[in-house]
Amino acid sequence: FVVHLLLSASSDGKDFDIESQDVKRSQFPDNFLFGTAISSYQVEGGYLDDGKGLSNWDAFSHVPGNIKNNENGDVADDDYHLFLEDIEMARSLGVNSYRFSISWARILPRGRFGEVNPSGIKFYNNIIDNLLIRGIEPFVTIFHHDHPQELEDRYGSWLSPLMQEDFVLLAETCFKNFGDRVKYWVTINEANLFADMAYIRGLYPPARCSAPFGNCSVGNSDIEPLVVLHNMLLSHAKAVKLYREQFQPEQGGSLGLIAHSHMYEPLRDGEADLQAVKRALAFTVGWAIDPLVFGDYPPEMRQYHGSELPRFSPEETEYVKGSIDFIGINHYSTLYAKDCIHSHCALGGDHFIRGFAYTTGERDGILIGEPTGVERFYVVPRGMEKIVDYVSKRYNNMPIYVTENGYSPPQTEQVPDLLHDVNRIKFHRSYLAALARAIRNGADVRGYFVWSLMDNFEWTGGYSVTFGVYYVDRQTLKRTPKLSAKWICCKRSNKSSSI
Ligand code: NOJ
Repeated sequence: FVVHLLLSASSDGKDFDIESQDVKRSQFPDNFLFGTAISSYQVEGGYLDDGKGLSNWDAFSHVPGNIKNNENGDVADDDYHLFLEDIEMARSLGVNSYRFSISWARILPRGRFGEVNPSGIKFYNNIIDNLLIRGIEPFVTIFHHDHPQELEDRYGSWLSPLMQEDFVLLAETCFKNFGDRVKYWVTINEANLFADMAYIRGLYPPARCSAPFGNCSVGNSDIEPLVVLHNMLLSHAKAVKLYREQFQPEQGGSLGLIAHSHMYEPLRDGEADLQAVKRALAFTVGWAIDPLVFGDYPPEMRQYHGSELPRFSPEETEYVKGSIDFIGINHYSTLYAKDCIHSHCALGGDHFIRGFAYTTGERDGILIGEPTGVERFYVVPRGMEKIVDYVSKRYNNMPIYVTENGYSPPQTEQVPDLLHDVNRIKFHRSYLAALARAIRNGADVRGYFVWSLMDNFEWTGGYSVTFGVYYVDRQTLKRTPKLSAKWICCKRSNKSSSI
């Protein structure tokens, strides 16, 4: 199978000329994974089909006011019924890998309080088999923000250590049923962002608030997000321990965890903002990844959170430390960081998650990069090289997969501009060029996934945020390739280019 995702050196259309940002296939290792990414709640729909249980997102999105335009994922892209078409779309892009996630409530509708749902298992078996027939490697996320609502109602989901048992059962169910064919597992997607959005900002279910900030008028407790992430890391580590003991010898796959990984640059020259950058990175990427590599949270976090930051017992440290084979980073953007310890920041709760750094996309009225359809996501290609350098150096050159990178246009854009997505092509080209530089600098990067295969349900943004290289008509659900899909597909040969 030939990896044909993209990228001859010649940029033929004038549209695509951007300052010497050409990218060549040869700048990436031979067995590099080029793929697209989606997640269950964002694309599947079929929210009550064939025995699926209600998820936290089903419940949350049905409450008026929680999601832009009161949209929800009941139908989403109907990938539950159209998955073959979606796999065909990926195949026609020429990618060699397909990242998707398991809907927990589809295979274990009531967590460990009920039975495995055979239709759910069948659905994912179908996806996996159809990928493999086409020579496409499945890259599977076990938890991507959606879990059975019953686990919320019974014991408060991630706030409780009981969630660890449920997560291990989910992982075991996946390894048992799919592990003979799946060789790449992500236990948890963006653990750090989930803890932030669901327990600091009140924007994802269960919409808890650590401080009067974001969507929150009152704060519950600064401790909750720390506890949630702690439970997530222990869940991850227990699942990995199980895999290594019982499944790895036969199945031989590798496991990682994904951190939401913004890059930061100092707002002002000088030591204070440089330190703010370091803290911002430690409190985001380090928070999720340090324990899995070194066995404990970053010293910067210990210093500032003191006894509020949970501790791993000696026994836990044993299996938490070294519990990843690779690091997944989802990278989209870069922000400026400003010190908030030695100088004043009127900022509410943001200081907590950003390591007492105020983060912003603006300096002296000038934006750090082109704005996109997501607030605080700017186009800053150099950030890709910097974040990969940072992760690679901090974690002793561990294997890295860029598990997400993508562009959504300003929400005011209409068809046909949405289809003629020249800015998305520029985005991927320039971010890939920066990734190639990071690889040249020595980082062991093994894959790159475009978020997303198709437009989908962007959490609180509903369907107004459109990351897909395929356009999805909301009325008919018809998929249409955008220019970027053609670019990905056809740049592989100079002849075939329709652009
Ligand atoms: C990160 C998340 O993993 C994904 O679910 C989301 O849609 C994209 N980033 C874009 O915001």
